[in-house]
Parts: sequence; C-alpha cells; structure tokens
Amino acid sequence: MIIKNTQLQYGFEDTSYVSAGGLDGIRALVESFYSYMDSIDSAQQIRSMHPDDLTIPKEKLTLFLCGWLGGPSLYQKKYGSISIPQVHKPFKVGFEERDAWLLCMEKAVNDQPYPKEFKKYLMAQLYVPAERIRMVNE
Ligand code: HEM
Repeated sequence: MIIKNTQLQYGFEDTSYVSAGGLDGIRALVESFYSYMDSIDSAQQIRSMHPDDLTIPKEKLTLFLCGWLGGPSLYQKKYGSISIPQVHKPFKVGFEERDAWLLCMEKAVNDQPYPKEFKKYLMAQLYVPAERIRMVNE
C-alpha cells in the first residue's frame, strides 16, 4: 500500500511561495510590514535607516521574498545577485533592531490569510537571516 503524504511541506519547491499568495500575496505582506514599521514605536530606529519614500525598498523586499520562498527569481532578474548580510553591513543592527524588524514582520504575517502553520514556519525561517545580519554586524 502506498501512503501518500498529503501534508504540505513548506520549503519544498514553490510550496512556500504559493502559500504566501504568490507575487500579489507577498506584495500585500510587504505593504503591511512597512506600515507597521511606520507606526510601531520600537521600530522607529530601523525606520530611520530607510529613505522617506519606501517605494524602492518595498519593491526590493517583495521581489527578494518571491525567490527566497521558492518562487521566481524576480529580484535577481531586476537588480542582480544579492548577499543579505552584505547589503545590511552599512546599518547598525543589534538585538533591538533585529527584534523590531521581526516584530513588524510578525504583525504583518498575522494580518495575512495564511494557514496558521505557514505563519509559524515563515517566522521561524525569517529569524535565520535576521539573526545572521545581527551577527555579521556585531
Ligand atoms: C535584521 C533586521 C533588519 C533591518 C534593520 C533591515 C534594514 C534594512 C535597510 C535599512 C535596508 C535599506 C533600505 C534602503 O536604503 O533602500 C534594507 C534593505 C533590504 N533588506 Fe533588510 N533589514 C533587516 C532584515 C532583513 C531580512 C531578514 C531580509 C530578508 C529576509 C531583508 C531583506 C532586505 C532586502 C532584500 C533589501 C534590499 C537590498 C537592496 O537591494 O539594496 N532584510 N534592510
């Protein structure tokens, strides 16, 4: 008898990208993320590292996350290759900055119509590069 595993395996092929709602879903996530960054007190330090006009940072993060979640490599096509720890080197990212970024992301993720399990998975995945940025910046 063949037992089929019907559970979605996030991280396998493009399952995470699809679960995040593809390009439109990720755009909505990034919009929400930056609106939390604008409004949460503890995020003002990281907000001030960004330009006033968030159009380009929003576009970059959206396209990056598409590929990072197993979808099309849109960031690479438009902007070329990227090293996440490297691009964050000019900024001071310690525990507070890392946690403020993750807090904005957690609130944004919670606003999305994602399955509960995917929300948990996504936050655990995002912690990895966030912590890596902090370590490289130390
Ligand atoms: C750990 C806390 C983090 C802080 C404080 C932070 C802050 C920033 C800042 C200030 C910029 C530059 C905005 C600009 O000048 O246009 C930036 C760019 C970017 N960040 Fe982060 N970030 C963090 C974590 C992350 C993580 C975890 C990811 C990926 C999962 C990420 C992905 C990006 C991308 C793709 C860009 C655009 C890079 C480029 O093309 O120039 N960031 N971030």
